[in-house]
Amino acid sequence: MRRYHVTTFGCQMNAHDSERIKGMLEELGLGEAASPDDADVVVFNTCTIREKPDQKLAAYMGEAAARKREDPDRVIALGGCFAEAQRERIFELYPAVDVAFGPGSIAHLGDWLGAGGVGVARGRFGLDDRDFAAELPTRNERSFQAWVQVSMGCNSKCSYCIVPAVRGREQSRRPGEILAEVQRLADSGVRELTLLGQNVNSWGRDLLPDIRTEFGELLRACDRVDGIDRIRFTSPHPKDFRDPVIEAIAECAAVCEHVHLPLQSGSSRLLKAMRRTYTRERYIELAEKMRAAIPDLALGTDIIVGFPGETEQDFLETLEVVEHVGYDSAFTFVYSPRNGTEAAALPNQVPHELKIERMERLVELVQRIARERNEARVGRSEEVLVEGPSRTDASVLRGRTRRNTAVNFTGEALAGELVEVRIEAATSMTLRGSQRALVAV
Ligand code: SAH
Ligand code: SF4
Ligand code: F3S
Repeated sequence: MRRYHVTTFGCQMNAHDSERIKGMLEELGLGEAASPDDADVVVFNTCTIREKPDQKLAAYMGEAAARKREDPDRVIALGGCFAEAQRERIFELYPAVDVAFGPGSIAHLGDWLGAGGVGVARGRFGLDDRDFAAELPTRNERSFQAWVQVSMGCNSKCSYCIVPAVRGREQSRRPGEILAEVQRLADSGVRELTLLGQNVNSWGRDLLPDIRTEFGELLRACDRVDGIDRIRFTSPHPKDFRDPVIEAIAECAAVCEHVHLPLQSGSSRLLKAMRRTYTRERYIELAEKMRAAIPDLALGTDIIVGFPGETEQDFLETLEVVEHVGYDSAFTFVYSPRNGTEAAALPNQVPHELKIERMERLVELVQRIARERNEARVGRSEEVLVEGPSRTDASVLRGRTRRNTAVNFTGEALAGELVEVRIEAATSMTLRGSQRALVAV
């Protein structure tokens, strides 16, 4: 049997798409290899959000090309956002690539890789003629958790971001199709769903005039499906947290008390230059409104340091918002200019050393706050969805709380079970504890 291996870069949408790529390859009769070294078909599902994933891909491609020189029958396939961004020159850039395709064209993988994955051809790109990867066969990594794609593309124009250029205009999946998938997942034993979209909470707007709905209604419909105990969603945009969405999060038992609320910057001046469409004040108001409406809410965020023109004053304003809102977790990024985006052409790019210095200060603050917030949970009992033994210490189990904090704990439970864990210690990223009685299922 010929074997495949998929290496995934980037965000949850790519993780979702890779499960579909695996599902497609298995339908073609291939089996999964443990590493790219053992694979006949090597797939890279790429990301190009910052320069780092581009560089990481270059290193992987170097190794893959060397293996292909030894064994020219190996097929190298390049999908995802980097492939789409570089569609004009991808085969010059990486001559070892046999097949390249954009994120909206996974459905056609079978046309380019013939039966058994032996035939090769050049792929398809394009943003106007996309398919929902969600409609393809899949190979779920975990039997009790699943991604559910609700939309593709993004209509925002954030000036730093390449995503709209590589994923195209926003298109919502129809509610009937989403709910049919959720029902199938629940029937197969899935307990935790993560609804996915580049701008997940603007879901539904483009379904008008046929269907009049919004994201809060979708959350409520998923919440009603028997067997689904936890619902998460990512990535939302602050501009689309209308009241019905906040009410649905507050009222639906399965929707977890965890919201990702990307800040990007705490300076209204920079937020404008980023085209985020909210001010510092509007953002803080929203965070406070959510905290008031949703008991025990955990907030996560994304922050960019060193956006063009960022002054010390702008940066201090970001630190202030971080302190004021009090995030439980935060992804912090050094601004990385992306070809073709508005911000890449702006004057006053911030020098690298200054970006690094600000990043260190930001990370220190973010970690201190996250640690304090986690330490405040010591002594409590939290519901944990068990993921299995810890990767670093097989004598303890690992799982996540509803607030999305990782927990290592002693106990006896199977992956996929919900257990109560007493929290005994905390760091900025993880909790430690011991299991109490099983929650009735
Ligand atoms: N659709 C999602 C994900 C966007 S990418 C959203 O809007 O939240 C995830 C994060 O990467 C963004 O929130 C932003 O903080 C960061 N990011 C995007 N482009 C970047 C760039 N050019 N440089 C640095 N960080 C960037
Ligand atoms: Fe990028 Fe902004 Fe769209 Fe997010 S909302 S994918 S940051 S353009
Ligand atoms: Fe990267 Fe594409 Fe996701 S650029 S962050 S894989 S949408």
